[in-house]
Amino acid sequence: MSHSNKTYILGIESSCDDTSASVICNHTLLSNVIASQSVHNAYGGVVPELASRAHQQNIIPVVSEAIKRAGIVASDLDAIAFTRGPGLLGSLLVGTSFAKGLSLSLGIPMMEVNHLHAHVLAHFIEEEGEEHCSPRFPFLCLLVSGGNSQIVLVKSPYEMQIIGQTIDDAAGEAFDKCAKVMGLGYPGGPIVNKLANEGNPHAFAFSKPHVPGYDYSFSGLKTSFLYTLRDHLKDNPHFVEQHKADLCASLQATVIDILMHKLRKAAKELGINEVAVAGGVSANTGLRDAFADHARRYRWNIYIPKFAYTTDNAAMVAMSGYFKYVQNDFCPIDAVPFARVTL
Ligand code: KG4
Repeated sequence: MSHSNKTYILGIESSCDDTSASVICNHTLLSNVIASQSVHNAYGGVVPELASRAHQQNIIPVVSEAIKRAGIVASDLDAIAFTRGPGLLGSLLVGTSFAKGLSLSLGIPMMEVNHLHAHVLAHFIEEEGEEHCSPRFPFLCLLVSGGNSQIVLVKSPYEMQIIGQTIDDAAGEAFDKCAKVMGLGYPGGPIVNKLANEGNPHAFAFSKPHVPGYDYSFSGLKTSFLYTLRDHLKDNPHFVEQHKADLCASLQATVIDILMHKLRKAAKELGINEVAVAGGVSANTGLRDAFADHARRYRWNIYIPKFAYTTDNAAMVAMSGYFKYVQNDFCPIDAVPFARVTL
């Protein structure tokens, strides 16, 4: 254990299908190891039981590697942060149980981390030798993933308020489901993104939702996309194959329009120009371009995560754990994971 002002936190993430461990020293990243599970590819989605088993196989080598790459030994660790939820219960159990065992054996405390908080707080991770600019409080964070589409008002690392969220599907789900009906692979988001780069975003018009406030809806877009395919396929059975790039570009442009419309509204009405994006869909290059465009047009200070922090990773868990550590906000050894938990 350290006796200086250096605090070494081990982060463990196992909420879905990535087993990850990371070590940070205060805000600085020392290591971030991720073992992705390819076993699910054949099924077109994550199979929970297979995910738990793969986590069990991966957790020890991944944690050992993270400690080794950080250039420390286990006894240097001050505390362990783990993802408590939301996620797949069987997957979360592996990380949680491992964290408990290690905490007991090293005699160090644990911090439970909310996976969604962690995505937001990834913006505070610093890397050695790089200039870093963290968002200033209060800031808005567009949190977009396969399971969430939310606008979060971040008042401090400890106080986050969801001011808008999807009333049905998430943005990532819209990408994935539309990709599926086009016969593209899984997950569809990155494939749509790639094809969209070669297509015309104005080729097709899909319906946009009318929901009040800062809330989102993506189920209408999905239906509208499906009907467009159905109508065209009647006359031309090769329609999807021939218009794949244009379909993807138009779909992506519509999702981005929907996301940015409410974010603009929130930024304007709340008078906030510090705006961040997080979650799996923040890897989308079209969305990143839209942020850059808004920064120019509306004088936003934008915060876009490195690609490594858009997918599930333990660095963001370790970072969130550090914020709790400095407040002595530790969790008991009988903490249980939660499949569903909100911010
Ligand atoms: O946060 P995340 O890794 O985990 C879940 O919430 O499941 O987000 C995964 C989601 C998937 O829906 C995936 O298709 C989407 O993020 N995604 C993307 C891109 N990369 C990942 N969507 C659009 N464009 C991308 N480049």
